[in-house]
Amino acid sequence: MSTQGPSRLSAARTAGDPDAAFQALNDSLAFDRRLWPHDVAQSRAHARMLGAQGIVADADRDAILAALDTVELELREERFAFAPGDEDIHMAIERRVTELAGPAGGRLHTARSRNDQVATDVALFTRAAAHETAALVEGLAGALIGAAERHLDWALPGYTHLQRGQPVLLSHHLLAYVWMLLRDRERLRFAAAQTGALPLGAGALAGVNFATDRAAVAGELGFAHPAPNSIDAVSNRDFVLDLLHAASTCATHLSRLGSELVLWSSAEFGFCELPDAWTSGSSLMPQKKNPDAAELLRAKAPRIVAHLGALHGVLHALPLTYNKDLQEDKEHLFDAVDALALCLVAARGMVEGAVFDRERMAAAASDDLTAATDLADLLVGKGVPFREAHGVVAGLVRAAVGSGRALGDLRPDELPAPLELGEVAEVLRPQSWLDAKVSEGGTALPRVREQLERARAALAA
Ligand code: ARG
Repeated sequence: MSTQGPSRLSAARTAGDPDAAFQALNDSLAFDRRLWPHDVAQSRAHARMLGAQGIVADADRDAILAALDTVELELREERFAFAPGDEDIHMAIERRVTELAGPAGGRLHTARSRNDQVATDVALFTRAAAHETAALVEGLAGALIGAAERHLDWALPGYTHLQRGQPVLLSHHLLAYVWMLLRDRERLRFAAAQTGALPLGAGALAGVNFATDRAAVAGELGFAHPAPNSIDAVSNRDFVLDLLHAASTCATHLSRLGSELVLWSSAEFGFCELPDAWTSGSSLMPQKKNPDAAELLRAKAPRIVAHLGALHGVLHALPLTYNKDLQEDKEHLFDAVDALALCLVAARGMVEGAVFDRERMAAAASDDLTAATDLADLLVGKGVPFREAHGVVAGLVRAAVGSGRALGDLRPDELPAPLELGEVAEVLRPQSWLDAKVSEGGTALPRVREQLERARAALAA
């Protein structure tokens, strides 16, 4: 290593030390060091290919590979000594390889640029993150299925506008989240598939002057094929957008779950108690059990969505090919992946440990006003057009609510002609509202059982 300026592995035009503030702005090591496993893997694949193609002598290739083994060990054991001039993880690793392997180390970067190198590392990271996130999504979906099984026939109100709408089964409500998560998994799988084109071999932008074997490198690193266009290869960060989009939608789903857990665990609802391990006490009020984790499910989502928006901003109108702007892909990607992982683990913990209050939910679900639609349907069964029936029942609701009574308290003389007290009483029996929702995907118990089977099979697919 020359002493001309910190690092300066590639100091062709510049002399002397860069301004300290420029270095602080420009260096990415603080956040891109976590790419090291991918950087080592691609350097190995690249060195092997260079050897196999006769671009680098076997002895030099072996020296490089041995140095990479040492580098990997040092990094894994957290005793890799970073140097003040290490601008990013790629420079740091190459510097160390050169220290260890001598002049042979200087041959590692043959037929490679940091432009195709960083794109390759980010693609590898994105693919791994997509798979790891999908596994966490599956874990949460499995926990929701478990909770649905444990509360198969427990009723609670279903809401629209946060007003009691129609009673549903808790299992049905929990399964709604499972379908959302299964769509998230699809999006994550799509993002993983979008990393299939290997950037490495594109060089700086135009290709390289050597007879490389890009297909071999692609095969070794698990890419489907070499990227067909070197210009696109070093410019492309679409797969990061795809992952951030999948993460944003998933986080938004979790924000809705978090929000419901906050409401449900309040004294006002009292539908569930969250596990101690996922709540906190108050420093002042001894009676408090705060649903912090559920609140953070709500609040992390916009942060993850903002990362997606920010990367769209970075890529917007960016001239081809590589621009330093692209270095700004990483913090958005990393933070989104980390935040979402924490949220998925927390959501799972809360779903697994939440204790539901069957009586409390049943009481809320037995407000017979929520059977108003069923009463209208009873009239429909007697040939009354639905719109007309709706008006008639609205009149009954006004009469009941106006005098502080339930629908079931209405006197026979208050019921309009085709309705008889006995059948009205039957329709207003809480369980019958649930049993009546027999349509596919509805909340009648046999339909929910059927749905549970489908969800289980879909999760396993
Ligand atoms: N740290 C850079 C990044 O993350 C690596 C690529 C640098 N390439 C360059 N031509 N300066 O994007």
